[in-house]
Amino acid sequence: MTTERTFSIVKPDAVERNLIGKIFAMIEDSGLRIAATKKIHMTKAQAEGFYAVHKDRPFFNDLTDYMCSGPCVVSVLEGENAISRYRELMGATNPENAAEGTIRKRFAKNIEANSVHGSDAPETAATEIAYFFNQLEIVG
Ligand code: PPS
Repeated sequence: MTTERTFSIVKPDAVERNLIGKIFAMIEDSGLRIAATKKIHMTKAQAEGFYAVHKDRPFFNDLTDYMCSGPCVVSVLEGENAISRYRELMGATNPENAAEGTIRKRFAKNIEANSVHGSDAPETAATEIAYFFNQLEIVG
């Protein structure tokens, strides 16, 4: 078994509704550990860089506008199979399709304001973690 790291964002809709603690509680109750965290307010350029992989998708401008519309909380999560476990805990991208017991089923408003982001693969996790954290900030 190998410990894995993934990258998480508590998005502006959830921070605005004071849900950071409730979402962190769901993360910790699932057995994942928070190895680093900070509250940030992304610039448009930072959001465009972070979501560059989606730059040709029709929602790119709306998504990047939304992600810099207010503060969010970025974190590094750690645990066995952290990437897939956190994706499962988040639930489907569109909350209408999210399973009971998931973060998005409980809190997300719609496909844009869907409360959380989580990395989808090991390479993405490494890139996303390095986008917001340096090694000294991550304490596993
Ligand atoms: S995923 O999770 O990558 O499989 O989902 P995907 O459908 O590819 O969506 C990628 C991110 O884009 C967001 N998204 C949208 N934002 C605004 N408007 C619309 N219509 C829309 N559709 C998808 C979605 O929430 C994903 O954000 P992240 O932060 O990666 O979860």
